[in-house]
Amino acid sequence: MNGTSVWAGGKYELVGERLTPIHEQLVARLEPRVGERWLDVATGTGAIAIRAARAGAEVVGVDIAPELLERARASAHPLPIRWDEGDAEELPYEDAAFDVVASCFGVIFAPDDEAAGRELARVCRPGGRLGLTAWRASSELDAVYEAAAGGREGAGRDPVHWGDDAHVHRLLGDAFELELEPGVWRLSFDSPEHMWDWWSTVVPPFVALLEGLTSELREAAREQLVALAERRRTNGRVELTRDYVLVLGRRR
Ligand SMILES: C[S@@+](CC[C@H](N)C(=O)[O-])C[C@H]1O[C@@H](n2cnc3c(N)ncnc32)[C@H](O)[C@@H]1O
Repeated sequence: MNGTSVWAGGKYELVGERLTPIHEQLVARLEPRVGERWLDVATGTGAIAIRAARAGAEVVGVDIAPELLERARASAHPLPIRWDEGDAEELPYEDAAFDVVASCFGVIFAPDDEAAGRELARVCRPGGRLGLTAWRASSELDAVYEAAAGGREGAGRDPVHWGDDAHVHRLLGDAFELELEPGVWRLSFDSPEHMWDWWSTVVPPFVALLEGLTSELREAAREQLVALAERRRTNGRVELTRDYVLVLGRRR
């Protein structure tokens, strides 16, 4: 399955809703200004692009999945945002074309992180601003994905190498003055079963991973996720946290 169809599956909007505090944080920290040229890389359903456009920036949202771009276009109407299909590893823009380059849990999915890092730098003008978010490694979630993958190394799991500070400095430090800030994503569920139902029907890469699995592997994944949820029970609810890093940069 290619990247496009993975992200078209599940219900990405419902993940996006729960990411709202991080979307707000990223856009606020990038301080959008009227008339600035803004690129949202791996825009998905357009959460960052739409917020920047509302603040008056001239926004382009780019993503590899045309299905998500269609949803972004529909929810952005009538904001004048340009939506382009494109790969973060080979952005279809001129050098220094943007004042601001943002990517919320987006560019981290490009398999060639060095190419993606070079592209972020190439399209950002000198003095321009970069803002992205990246997941830190999570051994708890790894156990769930490993159970479902049944030995297929790394299958379905979110990439976490951009969540390693030293790696981010290696990828972007020559081109940007960087500032890295830790953050925590908070997710609340009614019960472990609620968390399983949500994760297994909503989160696109996990939905894709579960497709076609044997009932044994599916059950193994469910058991791991329910066990994780049980460990996170507080006051009758499941309170999950997931660490991420906010990367802010100024183009040298
Ligand atoms: C977790 S979603 C984030 C979407 C959005 N930035 C947000 O914050 O809601 C990841 C997005 O990355 C996109 N994506 C994955 N690989 C990509 C690539 N190589 N180039 C561009 N977009 C990519 C997916 O299509 C998906 O929309």
